[in-house]
Amino acid sequence: NRIINILRQGKPEEKVKIQGWVRTKRELKEFTFIEVSDGSSLANLQVILNQDLPDYNNVIKKLSTGASLAVEGVLVESPAKGQKIELHAQTITIYGECDGKDYPLQKKRHSLEFLRTIAHLRGRTNTLGAVMRVRNACAQAVHQFFQEKGFLWVHTPIITASDCEGAGELFTVTNFNLDNIPRNDQGKTDYTEDFFGKKAYLTVSGQLEAEIMAMSFENVYTFGPTFRAENSNTSRHLAEFWMIEPEMAFCDLEGDQNLAQEFLKYVFKYVLDHCPEDMEFFNLRINNTVLANAENIINNEFARITYTEAINLLEKCDRTFQFPVEWGIDLQSEHERYLAEEYFKKPVIVTNYPKDIKAFYMRLNEDQKTVAAMDILAPNIGEIIGGSQREERYDILESRIKEMNIDPQELWWYLDLRRYGTVPHAGFGLGFERLVQFMTGIDNIRDVIPFPRTPMNAEF
Ligand code: 4AD
Ligand code: MG
Repeated sequence: NRIINILRQGKPEEKVKIQGWVRTKRELKEFTFIEVSDGSSLANLQVILNQDLPDYNNVIKKLSTGASLAVEGVLVESPAKGQKIELHAQTITIYGECDGKDYPLQKKRHSLEFLRTIAHLRGRTNTLGAVMRVRNACAQAVHQFFQEKGFLWVHTPIITASDCEGAGELFTVTNFNLDNIPRNDQGKTDYTEDFFGKKAYLTVSGQLEAEIMAMSFENVYTFGPTFRAENSNTSRHLAEFWMIEPEMAFCDLEGDQNLAQEFLKYVFKYVLDHCPEDMEFFNLRINNTVLANAENIINNEFARITYTEAINLLEKCDRTFQFPVEWGIDLQSEHERYLAEEYFKKPVIVTNYPKDIKAFYMRLNEDQKTVAAMDILAPNIGEIIGGSQREERYDILESRIKEMNIDPQELWWYLDLRRYGTVPHAGFGLGFERLVQFMTGIDNIRDVIPFPRTPMNAEF
């Protein structure tokens, strides 16, 4: 019996058994109150222990904050404000005591920075509890959205031989003994002797494999871990993050933007419907724009502009940016945040970026200078989605690959798809942790994933 169900549906005189961890204890003369959490809801269940409980004094002594227990008893109507029901204990089983003197979670509020140092215990706090439940609801919403639309969930490989983004942020996978790496005549690592007989990496994106699957199944999506050896220590980057990547055959950039907008609206609505208490908690304790932001997403169309229009807006505005604005630059986070937070005050989809700052697979526009790319920029976050229509024309793709100094041999299968029944297609990637940040108002990406991986930090 989960505490959330008891709080929602429990009736007086019902007999129940719960299990969980003590959050607080209040000893009075005649009896003792404890609040118990099992992680299922923000609210705890209040349990009353009476003097007539077997071994009362001894049991009470052991029930300090953090101790784990099972309680069997009867529900009674609660006289206290703000809760309908409480549990009158009849039997208590203590599984594990918890020494109050060195238990790191004290009654006071802890900073999120401090909680990061005890990631094995932080799930027991209100904030991390709410984050993990909202994260779970987001994941559920993602699958429900795509499954309702008939998209096939495809499992793309984690170990791969290709660098989808071409940004040189790959982690290499090897089973070489690092003390004894085979070298060729020039002294370079000889990968022909490695496990796969060639260089292999942790994937930065499942897109190329998702494109393969879309060429058989029309509409597919991935939802899995991706890895980037990004040495930037920011509050928006992880070395290991989860990405959702839909890929649609017979789709163009317009359809891609429409799907992304519909998708984000759906996920926000789902989470408001399924985690209202947790969302209210974020609004109250973390960021007082959380609920307004969610309503804004659900009820309004996103802004849409081209990259060239974005550059014009940035050049015209009365702001001085650290990074100078001119056509051709990659938008920096200060630019992205100005557009989303200050100018539009809602998510904005920026399309048609210069080809030189984007990946090889994006479809070349007629102007020969830009590609059919789209990024979605969100207030407080910056880029949350990156996507594009893909180059489906063999000759143009091949020359783009060469132009970017990639060996076409390595992408022979990708080129092959353009020879055998090619179709216009498009897709995007949503960073799952950035979505959870956007949803909850949590400032640092390390606090929306249970076990963050960042430079110089891989505990567990
Ligand atoms: O813009 P990106 O690099 O696009 C791709 O990987 C495409 N292959 C996606 C596609 O079209 N199928 O990454 C997509 C999103 C970003 O917009 C951002 O939300 C997130 O992934 N992201 C990160 N999130 C956390 N930590 C990092 N280091 C991230 N890098 C990208
Ligand atoms: Mg991007």
